[in-house]
Amino acid sequence: MKISVIGLGYLGTTHAVAMAKLGHSVIGVEPDLKRMEALATGELPFFEPGLGEALKEVIASGNIGFQTQHDKVSAACDIHFICVGTPQASGQQSADTAYVFAAAKELAAVMKPSSLVVGKSTVPVGTARNLIASMQAVGGFVPKLCWNPEFLREGTALADSLLPDRIVIGSNDPDHNQALKDCYQNILDQGVPVLELDLETAELVKVSANAFLATKISFINAMAEIAEASGADAVKLAEAIGMDNRIGKSFLRTGIGFGGGCLPKDIRGFIARADELGVGESLAFLKEVDQINLRRRQRIVSLATKELGEIADKKITMLGISFKPDSDDLRDSPALEIALRLKALGAIVTVHDPVSLGALEQKSTGLITEIDLQAAIKDAELVVLGTEWAEYKNLDPANFSSLPRIKTVIDGRNVLNVDAWKKAGWRVIAPGRNIVND
Ligand code: UDX
Repeated sequence: MKISVIGLGYLGTTHAVAMAKLGHSVIGVEPDLKRMEALATGELPFFEPGLGEALKEVIASGNIGFQTQHDKVSAACDIHFICVGTPQASGQQSADTAYVFAAAKELAAVMKPSSLVVGKSTVPVGTARNLIASMQAVGGFVPKLCWNPEFLREGTALADSLLPDRIVIGSNDPDHNQALKDCYQNILDQGVPVLELDLETAELVKVSANAFLATKISFINAMAEIAEASGADAVKLAEAIGMDNRIGKSFLRTGIGFGGGCLPKDIRGFIARADELGVGESLAFLKEVDQINLRRRQRIVSLATKELGEIADKKITMLGISFKPDSDDLRDSPALEIALRLKALGAIVTVHDPVSLGALEQKSTGLITEIDLQAAIKDAELVVLGTEWAEYKNLDPANFSSLPRIKTVIDGRNVLNVDAWKKAGWRVIAPGRNIVND
């Protein structure tokens, strides 16, 4: 099929490459010229394992092309996927849907009325119905629109797109869904279930799934607060409750909490939307989920202050700065916020990260970047693990124990082998675990 993918961020780029891999003829439409040109030469503007190679592959196969705006060829595509961002509105809690409406209206002005428009962006419930009306006002026809939320995770984005747990299709006319099911035929042939829903339910699936995941993480982080106050171990607790199949063990990793471009802004946008709908009470608990999450960041700063006394001029090494491993995304990264708070208190903060230092340097934060791990740890008075990259989890502390001035580590993700670190002479502070070794 001939398809256009509008907006080439994480979601759009991954979706465009996945569709080209399935054999479709894809046109990626990205208004940012530099970004578009980079993609056209096979260069990913962000780090995502395996996606760069796949991009080069589909460019070589001739299945994908890139441009900054629609032309006659892209306008004539059978399906148009809208993948533009819906960031948190500046100074507000709600999601900013301006890019979605702009992309849809531009499309309505040029597209064939018989083509299908598919929204993949995460939007407040009710957006799709408003989009149909605003596209109709521009194009003079009622567009066929499906809402098809995407559940990909950074770090495993391509695999998540090509083999998702489920495909959700929302529309106000089931006949519209067929073209999208044809487009995904190869995926459906692998046994991936498809749920055909109304527009509003499809929109809600995405935000409610993210709200549930955020709640699960904040639940175990609330238990970490209880564990710290009572002398229990929240990691062991998570293991024990996770063995109950009704609870499940995933998304119960306690630490410095969730971040990234989705979970934090999605729960805030969801709270704002519930308020607009007059049912703010229904999601009042999500405010607490957000607060628990943010408290974990401050907890690390408090522990650092307790350890070092005066923070000013102390040399602190941050291991990992991205919001999660296998990503260089710094959006709402707990590790970055902790590093910045420590710096604001006067610490000299050196950051090590396997792939995110370039992204950090673009932000001019005043944090020192160091790509060499040994150099980053040298003379440190405190080491803080902020992102659970495999290379940190597998560190043999004996290899660099002579380097720091003070051998104290705060394990912000609860992933270090405490016994090995202790054996190498380190004092390990594991939040939520009541583990402090002298
Ligand atoms: C999330 C959703 O999982 C995905 O379905 C949606 O499409 C986009 O948002 P992503 O932001 O890539 O994906 O990351 P995810 O793996 O969900 O992790 C989110 C955050 O939660 C990370 O900061 C991670 O470190 C943290 N996390 C996750 C925990 O703190 N504990 C856990 O047990 C799991």
